[in-house]
Amino acid sequence: MVLDLILQALWFILPAYLANGSPVIFGKLAGGRFPIDSGLKWFDGRPIFGAGKTWPGLLGGILVGSVAGLLQGSLLIGFLLGLGALLGDMTKSFFKRRLGKKRGESWPLIDQWDFLIGALLLVSLVAKPSLETVVILLIITPFLHLAMNSIAYLLKLKKEWY
Ligand code: CTP
Ligand code: MG
Repeated sequence: MVLDLILQALWFILPAYLANGSPVIFGKLAGGRFPIDSGLKWFDGRPIFGAGKTWPGLLGGILVGSVAGLLQGSLLIGFLLGLGALLGDMTKSFFKRRLGKKRGESWPLIDQWDFLIGALLLVSLVAKPSLETVVILLIITPFLHLAMNSIAYLLKLKKEWY
């Protein structure tokens, strides 16, 4: 059943979704302080990652992913999904800044896939997801991501609805 496959895929990736969504809360709790790049600039004179990537966000996201994984039955898988998600998001921000995109400026599809691809790559070290799982997640994640961001926007957690 297709629905079974979708639900299995969502259950598998849940720690990554939670890890990716939590930095907006941890970042806010810390008042946007402790940027990972310490405000340093790259050779092009632009921020390395930008003010939207903070230590509280990164560590909080990894913690949330790990706890979710632990509750599901594997701390290691949760940790790798969370770490992969946050590293994927940071890598995306690095390239956004190189392209001259401002913090929060949208980069359609990449903004939705960054954490998913990072999480899938890192978790593959210990648990290789099936091709069906990867395809399903690549298709449904952008829609779920937009839905979640709209909710975060309505809750005034995010400045942009996307
Ligand atoms: N956030 C954080 N630390 C991280 C990732 C995210 O503190 N490692 C917080 C920031 O407050 C950020 C918010 O979560 O603004 C939303 O994250 P995201 O959409 O990934 O960042 P953007 O502000 O859109 O920045 P970018 O343009 O670099 O994607
Ligand atoms: Mg963003």
